[in-house]
Amino acid sequence: MSKLWKGRMDENDPVADSFNSSISIDGVLYKQDIIGSIAHAVMLGNTGIIKKEDSELIVSSLEEILEDIEAGKLIISKTEEDIHSFVENELTKRIGDKGKMLHTARSRNDQVALDIRLYLKGKTEEIINLLSLFLDAIAEKANENLNTIMPGYTHLQKAQPVTYAHYLMSYGMMFLRDLERMKDSLKRCTVSPIGSCALAGTTYPIDRVMEGELLGLKEISKNSMDSVSDRDFCLEFMSNAAILMMHLSRLSEEVILFSSGEFNYIEISDAYSTGSSIMPQKKNPDIAELVRGKTGRVYGNLFALLTVMKGLPLAYNKDMQEDKEALFDSVDTVINCLKVYIPMLKAISVKKEAMEKAAAYGYMNATDLADYLTKKGMPFRDAYKLTGKIVADAIKMKKSLEEIKIEEYKAYSPVFSEDLYGVIDIKECVKRRNSEGGPAPESVKSQIDYIKEEIKKI
Ligand code: ARG
Repeated sequence: MSKLWKGRMDENDPVADSFNSSISIDGVLYKQDIIGSIAHAVMLGNTGIIKKEDSELIVSSLEEILEDIEAGKLIISKTEEDIHSFVENELTKRIGDKGKMLHTARSRNDQVALDIRLYLKGKTEEIINLLSLFLDAIAEKANENLNTIMPGYTHLQKAQPVTYAHYLMSYGMMFLRDLERMKDSLKRCTVSPIGSCALAGTTYPIDRVMEGELLGLKEISKNSMDSVSDRDFCLEFMSNAAILMMHLSRLSEEVILFSSGEFNYIEISDAYSTGSSIMPQKKNPDIAELVRGKTGRVYGNLFALLTVMKGLPLAYNKDMQEDKEALFDSVDTVINCLKVYIPMLKAISVKKEAMEKAAAYGYMNATDLADYLTKKGMPFRDAYKLTGKIVADAIKMKKSLEEIKIEEYKAYSPVFSEDLYGVIDIKECVKRRNSEGGPAPESVKSQIDYIKEEIKKI
């Protein structure tokens, strides 16, 4: 295919040609490239840089090219160097020399910087929307489980009782911050780099603000070298994606753990499980495992691009062509993971009895027992020690703290009286933890309301 830069040089070795070509990756940017080119042609016409009628011809032909690609009538040729070359060559094929006017006051360097921003803007908006659906699903499930007592863990050892709602809403807060980070990085995608040209702007009387506005971009970039040199907006998205995947991966780890026979707290719907080719009894949490596994590639993509960028002199360098494969993969992975997670979470059934049973045996009310003694006047350190001794004895007797008789308690300390049982009742332990952010049902209810309000603001 004819090179946009053919002029000074002889033909390339076909091996070099294919090595240099990025169209198999950046072909997905066809829409952004054409929309950007339409805005450019309109701007060139409106400012009188090219004739109005030529601009109109270019615009209508670009619109036809877009329609033809979308209808499957025009196939993006893999022999072109990149998507920018493909669109421009196709335009020239269709309208002859007039097509060659499109690239006035433009370079592929600002063009690609624009195309990626337009692409990432759309994808980030899609991810924000998916995250709000996910948060909604989390909040709904939490609402159904405000009183579902479960063990809360530290070091994966039973620590203090919480509710499944409280547990879910902790992830709700993490994903809400992920959403906020996405909203923030979206701002960097609404800055238009077009008009920066190769690196040093142009002598043509372009109107960058007009061109940006035609594309729905609120601002124009302030320095032409920066505009074509940096990929920090991609890195920002990819960092946010890595953090989001870390959260999803942690949740997945617990979906896997909690659905195991050993925990048996939840059941993943058959629709999101797989079987084994040899063991007929198996029901495997493959979807959650895949999400956990795919987190690795999203971390890797971030690191790959950080490494590509770290030693580059300004301005554009071909190394930067490596940005897209990593970025697209992170975008697709995050979207695919969220799309499968939302219905999977909705369909999880909660085994309330199993959770409550696990919460009943684990001495998670020991802190409450120590607090009881403290409130009766015993110094906390003594109360802590005595409670430890009672727990050790209870373990030997295979009894829960609630099962120990009051006479036995009194033998440890005379401060014990019947009111103890109200304090160490597991449900009471949860209910009384009503500090802001705590597991008490009314506290978690207000966390749910908060998330629902935040979703509305999107
Ligand atoms: N395919 C290139 C990329 O994705 C487009 C920019 C090419 N610019 C250049 N001066 N070779 O980075």
